[in-house]
Amino acid sequence: MPITVLLGVQWGDEGKGRITDALAAEADLVARYNGGDNAGHSITIGRAVVRLHLVPSGIFHERCLNVIGNGTVVNPLNLRKEIEEIRAAGIEVSPRRLRISRAAHVILPGHLALDAAREAQGGIGTTQRGIGPAYSDKAARLGVRAGVMEDPKAFADAVRAHTERVNRLLVHEFNRPPLDVEASASAYAEAATHLRAYLDDTTQVLREALRAGKHVLAEGAQAALLDIDHGTYPFVTASNPTIGGVMIGLGVPPQAITRVIGVAKAFTTRVGSGPFVTEVHGDLALRLRGTGANPWDEYGATTGRPRRVGWLDAVALRYAVWINGVTELALTKLDVLSGLSTVNVCVAYRYRGRTLEDFPQDTSILNACEPIYETMPGWDEDIRGVRAWEALPANARAFVQRVAQLAGVPVRLLSTGPERAQLLQLDGVQS
Ligand code: IMP
Repeated sequence: MPITVLLGVQWGDEGKGRITDALAAEADLVARYNGGDNAGHSITIGRAVVRLHLVPSGIFHERCLNVIGNGTVVNPLNLRKEIEEIRAAGIEVSPRRLRISRAAHVILPGHLALDAAREAQGGIGTTQRGIGPAYSDKAARLGVRAGVMEDPKAFADAVRAHTERVNRLLVHEFNRPPLDVEASASAYAEAATHLRAYLDDTTQVLREALRAGKHVLAEGAQAALLDIDHGTYPFVTASNPTIGGVMIGLGVPPQAITRVIGVAKAFTTRVGSGPFVTEVHGDLALRLRGTGANPWDEYGATTGRPRRVGWLDAVALRYAVWINGVTELALTKLDVLSGLSTVNVCVAYRYRGRTLEDFPQDTSILNACEPIYETMPGWDEDIRGVRAWEALPANARAFVQRVAQLAGVPVRLLSTGPERAQLLQLDGVQS
């Protein structure tokens, strides 16, 4: 009963979408286990570009069943819109192909308003999708689970109660206008009438699939360093993108997981605030980020914000490999480094005169760390047309080999461009 897990090992936007898209072609079931519509990636289908935020990537593969697990948070209005957009691209979206866990929590209007109000007071640079407040209510036992959408009237009552409660906070704590209780209740109840057919006990769905020997792909959103427990707290998301999130967010046993693919970019990016030891500025930053003219340039898929950029951080990578039990790496965007005369990889940190080999859990220590780089020769060739490992420039191969060595796991997938054909399957580049 094999589960392959695909998760980000940096701060998100590693290019998980295109790797999931490739792996989903061989999966029977693709399941999202954490986060909400704060995630985002684009898939090109013929002429149409479809943006996925919450629906798993298996939706583009006819034989896949797709599950939005109990560990996620669901915005009913946005999910309905996303479903319509996928349908507009000619893809079937029906309960035959998509199930929503009854135990997933619902992002309600007050969560969006609170996220915005807190950010306005100087937050951490969230995507303002209501993620943090929705998970807060879940932990506070105040949340509304997706199963309530079964009965739109009961759901409308729950939205009313939620909105009235949040209005008190908005008015008295944040000095903001209250939300319209009735408008919120009716908009959400209306969305529920479209979504209720998708509700299911997805833990059972997964159990049956695994018992029948089906191949499940667990698709992580965000990434290890944004994990609320293991990331750079408080500059993190509110869920667990790391491996534990798979068991919690889907209700599957650990023994079922046979493969954990960590997706890493050949450099590093992050959106929002927080420590970033290998961050670069100036011309090099512009060079790594791109202008925004290409869909693959480093601008947020959900928010459009320019991403912060820097060199690959092998200290953080080793940490993410360890806590997730990563068995192999998918290294993306190697082509972006083409044309640089030298390429840096951070191999350790300098902290108050000491050398740290291990990623510190304490964000205040991380803030005071400086990168210790190993500098490698770059390559000039455009590698986007390369389809075989041997055909890559020797310096590009040496870079990938060094990353594998520093991470301690093989690189099995390598992307050299945004298209499906620009993904090389390797035997396992180790050293
Ligand atoms: P939230 O998840 O919207 O609460 O945002 C918390 C932090 O996670 C912020 O720094 C966001 O920029 C970051 N974040 C959330 N989702 C993503 C993502 O899909 N890619 C990259 N960063 C993300």
